[in-house]
Amino acid sequence: MKTIIKKTSVDNIDMDTINQAGEIIRQGGLVAFPTETVYGLGADALNEEAAAKIYAAKGRPSDNPLIAHIADLEMLKPLVEEIPPVAEKLMDAFWPGPMTLIFNLVPKGTTGGLDTVAVRYPNHPIAQALIKAAGVSIAAPSANLSGKPSPTLGEHVIDDMDGRIDMIIDGGMVGMGLESTIIDVTVNPPMILRPGFITYEMVKEIVPDATEDRTIFTKPTKEFKPKAPGMKYRHYAPSADYTIYKGDEVKVAEKIIELANEKADEGKITGIITADQHLHMYQGRLNKSIKVVSLGDLEKPETVANHLFKALRDFDKVDTEFIFGEAFSEKNVGQAIMNRLTKAAGYNIIDV
Ligand code: TXA
Ligand code: MG
Repeated sequence: MKTIIKKTSVDNIDMDTINQAGEIIRQGGLVAFPTETVYGLGADALNEEAAAKIYAAKGRPSDNPLIAHIADLEMLKPLVEEIPPVAEKLMDAFWPGPMTLIFNLVPKGTTGGLDTVAVRYPNHPIAQALIKAAGVSIAAPSANLSGKPSPTLGEHVIDDMDGRIDMIIDGGMVGMGLESTIIDVTVNPPMILRPGFITYEMVKEIVPDATEDRTIFTKPTKEFKPKAPGMKYRHYAPSADYTIYKGDEVKVAEKIIELANEKADEGKITGIITADQHLHMYQGRLNKSIKVVSLGDLEKPETVANHLFKALRDFDKVDTEFIFGEAFSEKNVGQAIMNRLTKAAGYNIIDV
């Protein structure tokens, strides 16, 4: 398949591109587009055949349902049975934005056989313009091949999807870099199924008794399966053997230096994940072949979130075999950051 690739910027949206993309969606085709969280791979949410193409393009297991994206609250009506009062409160507080709500009901094909549906109202001008141009809600998972880190740059989408879908709208770097917070409002009290930029603390300000799925941090087992089907898969995973080291920052750096040098001296392609404030601890102490990547400024965890998936992809590009990484704070958005890193490391975390 020949994929149409179009660049457009948030400040000056090319409406010809948007209208062409909207037409492709209406015709049952696939379009990848930027949102404020990560890039999405969109199809008409109420067209079963189109939704099936998403699973094929991503290599996604068919039991993993999709999020329907809307561009105004009217579009919710044909999708959900009823809107519980607690959902209204969350919608008032966080929509449009990086929050997905799980409601009771329907459309077959996009929900993987569940009787619930996930809905998000993104706050990104290109995503909103596309949904409006299509005139239908758009089912969209992240626009990566199944198992790979979510795309945060147009290039990432091109790497994974060129030749597999009808069109890619390259809108540059996304704002946040982590997927939306998923909250199940079919249960009382509501439960967070996937942490994101809308943090547990922020949700509790609106709904004080909100809970969290216990599998957010523990390795899923047969008894404790994540409530969001997609959270059980080994996600965001780099090809390298990735281990996270946790504890006193100086001791962690010492441990990482020792182990990374050992691997690099054996000739293995080796990388380190750190933060701006810790870079100095590694300087002049490493085998020169080791690729040291700072995810960002610890005082600004958004910068860490924003670079996380790109860093994992960049390690893959140079065929990294071993990654030694620092753990990050789990406060606020740090919870979502550590949730993604923990999964990427296959729950391989060592206390130093
Ligand atoms: O930020 C985001 O949410 C991005 C952008 C494109 O909007 N989308 C995204 O979609 O991350 P995806 O498909 O990669 O992740 C959706 C997650 C999966 O873990 C899936 O299992 C869960 O949402 N999910 C979807 N429908 C559900 C439902 N009815 N009940 C429980 N979990 C559901
Ligand atoms: Mg995904």
